[in-house]
Amino acid sequence: MRDNYHRKADYLRLSVTDRCNLRCRYCMPEGGVPHLPHSEILTYEEMLRFAAAAASAGISKIRLTGGEPLVRRGIEDLVGGLASLVPRLDISLTTNGLLLEKCAGTLRSRGLRRVNISIDTLDARNYRELTRGGDLEAALQGVSAALSAGLKPVKINAVLLRGINDSEKEILSFIELSRRLPVFIRFIEYMSPCGNLDESFFVPMSRVREILEGLGGAEPCAGPEGGGPASYLRLRRFEVTVGLISPVTSHFCENCNRLRLTADGKLKSCLLSPTEVDVKELLRSGAADDLLIEAMRVCLEDKPHCRSMSGGPNRMMSGIGG
Ligand code: 5AD
Ligand code: SF4
Repeated sequence: MRDNYHRKADYLRLSVTDRCNLRCRYCMPEGGVPHLPHSEILTYEEMLRFAAAAASAGISKIRLTGGEPLVRRGIEDLVGGLASLVPRLDISLTTNGLLLEKCAGTLRSRGLRRVNISIDTLDARNYRELTRGGDLEAALQGVSAALSAGLKPVKINAVLLRGINDSEKEILSFIELSRRLPVFIRFIEYMSPCGNLDESFFVPMSRVREILEGLGGAEPCAGPEGGGPASYLRLRRFEVTVGLISPVTSHFCENCNRLRLTADGKLKSCLLSPTEVDVKELLRSGAADDLLIEAMRVCLEDKPHCRSMSGGPNRMMSGIGG
């Protein structure tokens, strides 16, 4: 499947819930966001049906996102279902890691291949403040569990926020973590129109690059499997590879291969575009697979060429899955 600008669409991000066990300051208001009623959320059976149709139309990678996907019960069964329905599917997960310790092994045995864990600071106090109550130790235990379970690669995503977690000390602590453990650190630019903090918190990746260069020798290099939109730097002095993701300052829209399905069954071709195609309606009215595939094509036809054409998001990030 290709969009109007000839970009291939082979990657589906599936948000399994809008709920989360954290309240990160940039993502959610303190009281959380009103939850969608259960009846509005796709069942696993509906997700599997859509995934099978999508795979038959060329989707080869599916990433489970949220909210926090591990707060939804039975997620192992969804992973198992996806793996058995589509044998060579590349199944991955984006999580805050808090609940990973319990389930990493099962997820891996059911067919999960790799995991991205969002940890924005390695300072326990700062983590508690930024996430409004989260326990950094639990997230780090999630990282260890992912590694022990053999999920590979394990990537740690850190959204940088000015004055909160962008100091050289904070950045160095991530580099040191990736020296101790076989994980890839990826720093991400904060997209303020999607978040709850204003633009003054934005940190451009050029600043991070400067800090990394100052720390000793940073050269562009290839990233791990499923590198996605990150560009990678090799830090010779530390013998680690670090990823930089610049959704704001660099136009990675050029290579965007993604579709997104929200937990309430709306298909989106762009994180930042308000356009949605109602897949739930199709699934619940007994539409055949070719209509589901047609919905994907309609959605792709509307995929903006780049973020400046996208019109701005219509939902909170937690409702789209990042
Ligand atoms: N800008 C950049 N990244 C964000 N995330 C959530 N909100 C934003 C934002 N406004 C990230 C989370 C997680 C991923 C799913 O999306 O930290 O890593
Ligand atoms: Fe939850 Fe992720 Fe939002 Fe934090 S950023 S509140 S972990 S969905």
